[in-house]
Amino acid sequence: MSYNLLKGKKGIIFGALDEKSIAWKVAMRAKEEGAEFVLTNAPLAMRMGEINKLAEACNAQVIPADATSVEDLENLFTKAQEILGGKIDFVLHSIGMSPNIRKGKSYGDLNYDWFLKTLDISALSFHKVMHVAEKQNAMNEWGSIVALSYIAAQRVFPDYTDMSQAKAVLESIARNYGYRLGRLNKVRVNTISQSPTKTTAGTGVGGFDAFYDYADKMSPLGNASAESCADYCITLFSDLTRLVTMQNLMHDGGFSTMGISEDVVEMISKQS
Ligand SMILES: NC(=O)c1ccc[n+]([C@@H]2O[C@H](COP(=O)([O-])OP(=O)(O)OC[C@H]3O[C@@H](n4cnc5c(N)ncnc54)[C@H](O)[C@@H]3O)[C@@H](O)[C@H]2O)c1
Repeated sequence: MSYNLLKGKKGIIFGALDEKSIAWKVAMRAKEEGAEFVLTNAPLAMRMGEINKLAEACNAQVIPADATSVEDLENLFTKAQEILGGKIDFVLHSIGMSPNIRKGKSYGDLNYDWFLKTLDISALSFHKVMHVAEKQNAMNEWGSIVALSYIAAQRVFPDYTDMSQAKAVLESIARNYGYRLGRLNKVRVNTISQSPTKTTAGTGVGGFDAFYDYADKMSPLGNASAESCADYCITLFSDLTRLVTMQNLMHDGGFSTMGISEDVVEMISKQS
């Protein structure tokens, strides 16, 4: 159902790889709500993924950009404003990758060059996006910038290894750049801390199925789906949340407030 919440708004959506991607669902919802936007992803990921299918469905253009490259981001923001015919109202940063997780390295055995890559791709890229937006004065007043995070920024999830630090940095960047962009041109910056979700990035984490089921059983509302995450992103891009900024917003069916649930007690009791 559409409420026209983004009618007339222009955006940039990072990170749609395939139909399971959270960014994919956000793009579909943003289109439904009347937004115009460009899609972007790393050149390599674009060759592997299906972004052109999404572009067709949303009548959007695709501009390749490696989010760790300031030069690519400059080109992206310049072209996006040309294509959309004006400044940007919303940006979704839906990017995460850890070479250490990909190669199955445990927390005690991390490759430090890869650790730096994890931080660059999954956290510093968010700073770079806002740096370029600021330098090009590319955001409209009352614009909204959102990145996706995970509760491993605050709590220990052993298999999430160096991505935990990346998410902690990401959330800190949202607060610090949120202050800056708020003062400069009333742009808000937030992170959404999303439930485990069955996507390429999500299922790449060791033990994913177990902590997906655990989180589901812990949360009174169950895990938040990618579709419901997209709904939440839309509210944050809309004019209904103009004074929400510098927040890490839990979107997890209640998981983060729980100690233990009856479902988990039952599950463990059955095993013993
Ligand atoms: N899936 C989950 O369980 C979960 C939970 C909480 C938060 N998140 C976060 O949601 C976001 C989106 O992930 P997803 O679950 O939709 O998985 P996904 O694999 O569909 O998306 C990750 C995206 O990051 C892109 N990317 C990687 N390196 C890049 C680079 N150098 N430049 C530009 N793009 C690059 C990939 O191409 C891909 O499109 C990530 O930040 C992820 O950490 C996911």
